[in-house]
Amino acid sequence: MAYAALRSIGAYAPKNILTNEDLAKMVDTSDDWITKRTGIKERRIADKNETTSDMGVKAAQKAIERSGIAKEEIDMVICATISPDYFCMPSTATLISNKLGLQNVTAFDISAACTGFVYILSIAKAFIESGMKKNVLIIGAEKLSAITDYTDRGTCILFGDGAGAAIVGATNDKSEAIIDVHTGADGSFADLLMTPNGGTGSPHDSLEQEAGSCYMQMKGNETFKVAVRTLTKDVEDILAANNIASEQVDHFVPHQANYRIIKAVGDALGMSDAQVVLTVHKYGNTSGASIPMAINDIYEEGKLKAGELLLLDAFGGGLTWGSALVPFSPLR
Ligand code: UT7
Repeated sequence: MAYAALRSIGAYAPKNILTNEDLAKMVDTSDDWITKRTGIKERRIADKNETTSDMGVKAAQKAIERSGIAKEEIDMVICATISPDYFCMPSTATLISNKLGLQNVTAFDISAACTGFVYILSIAKAFIESGMKKNVLIIGAEKLSAITDYTDRGTCILFGDGAGAAIVGATNDKSEAIIDVHTGADGSFADLLMTPNGGTGSPHDSLEQEAGSCYMQMKGNETFKVAVRTLTKDVEDILAANNIASEQVDHFVPHQANYRIIKAVGDALGMSDAQVVLTVHKYGNTSGASIPMAINDIYEEGKLKAGELLLLDAFGGGLTWGSALVPFSPLR
């Protein structure tokens, strides 16, 4: 049987920085409030003409270069995004494939908000284990600034832009393999975090009315409580199912939504500060890109070594959630 291994990681963060001080000039907030309530100091914002697929391509190029796998060997591309280049079609994954010059690939997007990267990891694993695909490029890419209402202080302080990518490849060596991925969803919480306008759920009479109405809306405090509960249970379940203790995890990589959520979940799980990967202070919440961007940070800092065990944990709109136990298994 084929197993699926995480071969490489890459990421891209746009150069423009939006600080808390900048936001305090736009809405009624302060650096002190944002820092205390979220841990965020700044986030990256894409250029006006820079698209989600442009960012995805830059992250993917790094992941491909680092993987030691020729791009001709990539047979599938999956992009997790809630801020695609185009509303319905073509998918961002097909645009990324074209810009990378990939041929003979299956390419599609999925929508699972901040859990997107864990979802596409599970899809890549399933396709590889079934023998249908051998090398899958997975990308979480978001231009959240395009769907953020910069007059709403409850959301605009949180979100940023960026992309992360990974190559998941087939192996016969079980010790290299992704151990497990859990995913879940509960649509009864749909109204906690949504873009209520612009789709068939809320059709508009005119394009003018629709334009600019696709902003995210969030019931922040309720979402916060469900996030802490769900993220903690998610990890407890996947560790128990695989008979792995939290001390065996080298790097706990939670979705980077809010430092207080990460701290509460880390403490509940008995994770030490050294185990918990944090990037929320510098990138804010980049939804589907947040986990691969965080893994890339520890990789580029030289903290992620071959054979080390990553524990991923995500939560987002839908509601969706997911966790994964993933050894880092580079080919070189
Ligand atoms: O990634 C997907 C999942 N998303 C999340 O997990 C996000 C979860 N939620 C959060 O991170 C937090 O709920 C927020 C950061 C959004 C808000 O923090 P909070 O501690 O839950 O604050 P709150 O909504 O309970 O509001 C407390 C107070 C309110 O004022 P009053 O009613 O006490 O006078 C708000 O109006 O803080 C006020 N407030 C602000 N003040 C300054 C809300 N946003 C701001 C702001 N600046 N940006």
